[in-house]
Amino acid sequence: MPIYLDNGATSYPKPDEVCGAMIEYMTHNGASPGRGNYARAMDADKLVYETRKALSKLLGAPRPGQIIFTCNATESINMALKGYLRPGDRVLTTGYEHNAVARPLKKLETERGIRVELIPCAPDGTLDLSAMRSLLDGGTRLVAAAHGSNVIGCITPLGEVVGTAHERGVPVLADAAQTAGAYPIDAAALQIDMLAFTGHKGLLGPTGTGGLYLREGVVLSTLKEGGTGGMSLSPFPPDDPPDRYEAGTMNVAGIAGLRAAVSYLMGVGVDAVRRHEVELTGILLDGLDSVPGLTYYGPRDTEDRLGLVSFNIEGRDPHKVSMSLDRDYGIMVRSGLHCAPSAHRLLGTAPVGAVRASLGYFSDREDVERLVRALKEISSRGE
Ligand SMILES: Cc1ncc(COP(=O)(O)O)c(C=O)c1O
Repeated sequence: MPIYLDNGATSYPKPDEVCGAMIEYMTHNGASPGRGNYARAMDADKLVYETRKALSKLLGAPRPGQIIFTCNATESINMALKGYLRPGDRVLTTGYEHNAVARPLKKLETERGIRVELIPCAPDGTLDLSAMRSLLDGGTRLVAAAHGSNVIGCITPLGEVVGTAHERGVPVLADAAQTAGAYPIDAAALQIDMLAFTGHKGLLGPTGTGGLYLREGVVLSTLKEGGTGGMSLSPFPPDDPPDRYEAGTMNVAGIAGLRAAVSYLMGVGVDAVRRHEVELTGILLDGLDSVPGLTYYGPRDTEDRLGLVSFNIEGRDPHKVSMSLDRDYGIMVRSGLHCAPSAHRLLGTAPVGAVRASLGYFSDREDVERLVRALKEISSRGE
């Protein structure tokens, strides 16, 4: 049996209920939500609303309307950064951001003259919060930080980051692409201002789904304008979320799948998912410790990290290692820069990168043990 250990890219497999819900919508409903008063259109509307409600519960949003649907975390982050930042604004971010954050910021640097500064951090991803505090003094308007690094595996202490930023009245955008569904999040309790998430990783939903949580009172300029199904006489988008930000017909089949995924996850419990991943990560790190010449990156304490581990074997090209894992052992992992070159610069693994094994809720001990056995063989072979 092939082993899938690329859950950091997208989770696999999906619960059967996810595929079932998508087929059900496509076969028996197929209507556009919020745009008709016939029964099936209203059923589609209800389906979208129930998904919003389930997500708001899962992520700690006080009201369902604070969850805006997008097609992935990348769109959510673009919506937040481009909708919030004005010419000349200063942004603090981390040195381990995914390009989903780094590239929109770069574009805004060029086009709106925003200034981007990094919060100093150690190679294991530990942020220097006192340095952050002094950097905040220079007129910063936003802190944008990954909740979890897709390369280092470190978890950003969001409560402390938000607390520090709020001392100076600066809002925080959290990129929860790697954590939503895999790590407990309570957006209201943490007082997060904006939280971007994707539906197809830890949330176990289909690709093409994602969302942005907005704290009450956060208003963004819109990234796109168009039909929202109501207030059609107005030449402008509606003022209120979520309609304000959701122009165009939505990915209802994807949202149907996401609703099933979220209800599956709530049945299991995000805490249980987290416990499972922490336990397997411990087994993986112990195993990797026994592979000659192998170095892995990020925190050693499994409580401080996500269920993904990047590593290199001395003198070996990570791409060749991952190709051998697939070809010779049927194990799927991802090698390279993982769309996060700055994280690899921090680790000293740029420009080639590393191999990343990322666990998911459906990974088990046998998967991890087979990976470790394969790596021992690869390490003992000449290239
Ligand atoms: C930390 C992080 N942010 C953002 C993204 C982008 O997610 P998506 O491709 O679903 O937009 C990813 C995906 O790998 C990620 O790991």
